[in-house]
Amino acid sequence: MNIKHLNIRIPLERESEKILHYVNHVAGETDFLTFGKGEYPLDSNGIKKSIRNLSSSKNSIMLIAELDNQIIGLASIKGYDKIRMDHVGDLGITIMKDYWGQGIGKQMVDFLLKWAKNNEFLYKVNLKVRHDNVKAIKIYKDFGFAKEGVLLDDFKVNNIYYNHILMGIKIKTL
Ligand SMILES: CC(C)(COP(=O)(O)OP(=O)(O)OC[C@H]1O[C@@H](n2cnc3c(N)ncnc32)[C@H](O)[C@@H]1OP(=O)(O)O)[C@@H](O)C(=O)NCCC(=O)NCCS
Repeated sequence: MNIKHLNIRIPLERESEKILHYVNHVAGETDFLTFGKGEYPLDSNGIKKSIRNLSSSKNSIMLIAELDNQIIGLASIKGYDKIRMDHVGDLGITIMKDYWGQGIGKQMVDFLLKWAKNNEFLYKVNLKVRHDNVKAIKIYKDFGFAKEGVLLDDFKVNNIYYNHILMGIKIKTL
């Protein structure tokens, strides 16, 4: 598949329906997300509100990866609002399965971290990843994330429990 024309950008509020369609699709493609098929908690209006909130937030960003007018990736850093935590953001990412292994995940993480480095508030980016998600862990390590902890049995799929690895990166020197 030709990903030469991949466009990574901030979504518009009016694209919420497309994003909902994307999220419902990828939910059925992987057990590494915290929601499965039909379990995503937001409807189109909720996503619209989320896009609005993130775009007006001082330390958050949502990105889509778009190819031929189709959303094939979604990633975000959600920064905390409270002053004592507003230097911290949580990273999340999904790519549509048909496009795995073509460097799109890495491009999105790269975009997010470059943006975070230029953000006035963020100093630390954290994430949680299922302990056996080797591909995602490799990407995070390659970008400099380090393992900072483990949450035992924090994740459950079909009544099987998995540990979550906590990873973090300091993106600026103080
Ligand atoms: C994890 C995810 C975002 C990665 O996106 P992607 O576009 O497939 O990733 P990329 O192609 O950019 O990079 C994949 C890297 O993992 C490596 N990789 C692939 N399979 C691997 C494996 N079994 N073990 C270790 N590394 C592996 C690739 O070699 C590549 O690294 P390289 O370019 O240095 O060689 C995507 O697979 C996804 O959406 N998965 C489901 C949702 C998910 O797990 N999200 C993260 C939750 S924390």
